[in-house]
Amino acid sequence: MILRRVPNLTRSFTTKSVKGFTGAVGSTPLVRLEKISKRTGCEVFGKAEFQNPGGSVKDRAALGLVESAEKAGQLKPGGTVVEGTAGNTGIGLAHVCRAKGYKCVIYMPNTQSQEKIDLLRMLGADVRPVPAVAYENPKNYNHQAKEYAEATPNSVWTNQFDNTANAEYHYKTTGPEIWEQTGGKIDAFTCSTGTGGTLAGVAKFLREVSDGRVKNYLADPPGSVLHSYIQSGGKLVDRTGSSITEGIGQGRVTNNLGTEIQNLAGSLHIPDAKSIKMVYEMLDSEGIYIGASSALNVVAAEELALQLGPGKTVVTMLCDGAYRYQSRLFSRKWLRSKELEDAIPADLQKYIVLE
Ligand SMILES: Cc1ncc(COP(=O)(O)O)c(C=O)c1O
Repeated sequence: MILRRVPNLTRSFTTKSVKGFTGAVGSTPLVRLEKISKRTGCEVFGKAEFQNPGGSVKDRAALGLVESAEKAGQLKPGGTVVEGTAGNTGIGLAHVCRAKGYKCVIYMPNTQSQEKIDLLRMLGADVRPVPAVAYENPKNYNHQAKEYAEATPNSVWTNQFDNTANAEYHYKTTGPEIWEQTGGKIDAFTCSTGTGGTLAGVAKFLREVSDGRVKNYLADPPGSVLHSYIQSGGKLVDRTGSSITEGIGQGRVTNNLGTEIQNLAGSLHIPDAKSIKMVYEMLDSEGIYIGASSALNVVAAEELALQLGPGKTVVTMLCDGAYRYQSRLFSRKWLRSKELEDAIPADLQKYIVLE
């Protein structure tokens, strides 16, 4: 066979192939955010987790949780993975389970959209919507997931919030990737938390590898207690308000976050008006289509860069794309209902293309 000569390349690329879905998880690009870097005089980067094969940062947690159960002998061929989730973790787990030949059972509150249920079912998951009751109620979807796994042989409840295999996977992969991609030239890292796996794992790695030089900050939406917890030096203050962001915000310190929260340098509270504006700005000025949690992260990275001053390098996470949320984020009616229409500057209103 005659091989055609590869033309001169103007950019480097990875030539290695990977093994299956699981081999494609991670090694995401670190994208320099051009306008934000210029605006702040800093180097501001976003880790393009939306490029994971299942579309979000949660592919990493899903793989980490399943691999850890396999290693512990809790999951054997043909076994069942059970989780309580309405979001990206379920999608990641459904993919990983198909790739590895496991059954996937997802419990979720019955208030979730039909779109989410349909997507998980299309990915082969056994979806069980249950009444939306508080965590304290034994019928809460998380407890039902745990009980189902306990009653089913060769099955595991992955327990994404409190199983620290989640943070460990980010410690082993996301943290080292960021360190290598910045050549160790990084001053600060910030991201928001759902389970806290991403922040805790990445922050711990960057702190250790830099002998404490890299400072890590939690970014928090309205309705979460974590910003006030950190600012008050460890008091759990009642939740107030709510947020349009999905997948983030917490009412407690999870085991995953608990592995590193005491070492964080601080926290930033980001209101929804700034996050939604950044969804549109990132699209308009960088050409990057991200969901609201990622936009919140970028706002936090910009504020941190301004705090630290010119010349610093700040990294954050671009957790997923806007595709899963576009019927809301780009709908005028929905923006109005959340009192966020005016948060979009006049020159960006052209992107509000849905009724
Ligand atoms: C869109 C999105 N962003 C951010 C997060 C938070 O990641 P973590 O659970 O690692 O804190 C999640 C978690 O589900 C998510 O779905």
